[in-house]
Amino acid sequence: MLPLNENHPMKHYLQFNDLSADECAYVFARAALIKKKFKAYEKHHTLADRTLAMIFEKASTRTRVSFEAGMYQLGGSVVHLTTGDSQLGRAEPIEDSAKVISRMTDIVMIRTFEQTKIERFAAHSRVPVINGLTNEFHPCQILADIFTYIEHRGAIQGKTVAWVGDGNNMANTWLQAADLLGFKVHVSTPSGYEIDQSVAGLRCADSYKVFGDPLSACAGADLVTTDVWTSMGYEAENEARLKAFASWRVSNTMMAAAAPDALFMHCLPAHRGEEVDADVIDGPQSVVWDEAENRMHVQKALMEYLLLGRQD
Ligand code: CP
Ligand code: NVA
Repeated sequence: MLPLNENHPMKHYLQFNDLSADECAYVFARAALIKKKFKAYEKHHTLADRTLAMIFEKASTRTRVSFEAGMYQLGGSVVHLTTGDSQLGRAEPIEDSAKVISRMTDIVMIRTFEQTKIERFAAHSRVPVINGLTNEFHPCQILADIFTYIEHRGAIQGKTVAWVGDGNNMANTWLQAADLLGFKVHVSTPSGYEIDQSVAGLRCADSYKVFGDPLSACAGADLVTTDVWTSMGYEAENEARLKAFASWRVSNTMMAAAAPDALFMHCLPAHRGEEVDADVIDGPQSVVWDEAENRMHVQKALMEYLLLGRQD
């Protein structure tokens, strides 16, 4: 099916830098408008009669609810597929699945394992494909995180984000976002769990700095953020990770080293007493509930942009 706006070329959102800095600014502004209308119970049916296919090969709460509720709020509808209840789990080639699903729906969101799987799907899709998390990236989450930062503190350009924990999909995406939008990431991971700069494919290596000690990474930071120690797909490493990450729990000592008005974020789900202390995630600097809610508002803006291009 063709996008509604024939002047708007088809675009996928597989990595954070699939949008330019200017397009991100548009999506943030549009998300703010969409959120305001949602809070006022005003209809915003810009995707009436459009259908979103959501494919989950890993578990989800926020991604499923935010995309599903968001698409209904835009006037569209949703088809939900998992590996277990579709032919995807019975070895139908990704390329064939992409050709079929994209003939019947208008936009596709996929949560899967390797980034190459979503790239293969996108290469054979007639409609825009959105990354709802892969082993390498979680771009919709970082869009929501930056939107949340802007809501609370204004522009993120020139600011410092401290990443404490695993060199995972979230860390890679923060690196890409910093490179694109002009802020810095101070990264501290245990040895053996470092980030691999080549995954993010940075234009400028100055956008991040590595610290051995998490407290030093947090010093003066405007935002401190972390994630689970064991991501989906890596469960067999859980015991080893619990030991390796023990000194990377975000604590009030780390928050005290950050800027006085620093925020705390976590994409959730969180494990209090593992990657973060309860008094940090449930404390006054934490914005994790706004962060979770904002997934829906930015993704509504993103789907609308991918299907319709800029509005007004
Ligand atoms: N943050 C996030 O993507 O949450 P879910 O795994 O619940 O979708
Ligand atoms: N890094 C985590 C994020 C979960 C939303 C994972 O991939 O499981």
